[in-house]
Amino acid sequence: IHQRSLYQQVILEHSKKPRHQGKTDPVHGYHRGHNPMCGDTIELTVKLNQTGDRIEDVKFEGEGCAIAIASADLMADAVQGKSIQEALEMVQQFRNMMQGKAEFPLDVRKLNVLQGISQFPIRIKCATLCWHTLKAALESSQVHTSTVESEQ
Ligand code: FES
Ligand code: FES
Repeated sequence: IHQRSLYQQVILEHSKKPRHQGKTDPVHGYHRGHNPMCGDTIELTVKLNQTGDRIEDVKFEGEGCAIAIASADLMADAVQGKSIQEALEMVQQFRNMMQGKAEFPLDVRKLNVLQGISQFPIRIKCATLCWHTLKAALESSQVHTSTVESEQ
């Protein structure tokens, strides 16, 4: 019960006042993620560092329930400054956590609060939407980076 109320508090805080809404400038990676359960979409933009291997900023826009918005905002906090490799590992760790397989092992314990969602299986997709979308956005940035390199 205590954990659930902490979970509700975090969801409320991050869905009412998300700090990472908007578009990054410039946009190095982009993806529009879609939750097939409800039809909501989220658009994610990523800004990388100069060498193109580290996340400088992530922003999101779009429609989604409080869980989807809060999860995207928490994710944007959590992946700031991470390498692309680290962020992709976090995508997998988040999935594992939602399946109840493991706690979030990194320095972002706040994300463990979202484990509360796994009690409500139909809402899991709401929480993982942003992470799927991040993975695709990072992959799009890699394609872009290698295209630019091969043109040189
Ligand atoms: Fe489309 Fe995950 S369902 S990005
Ligand atoms: Fe649509 Fe949660 S109900 S993202």
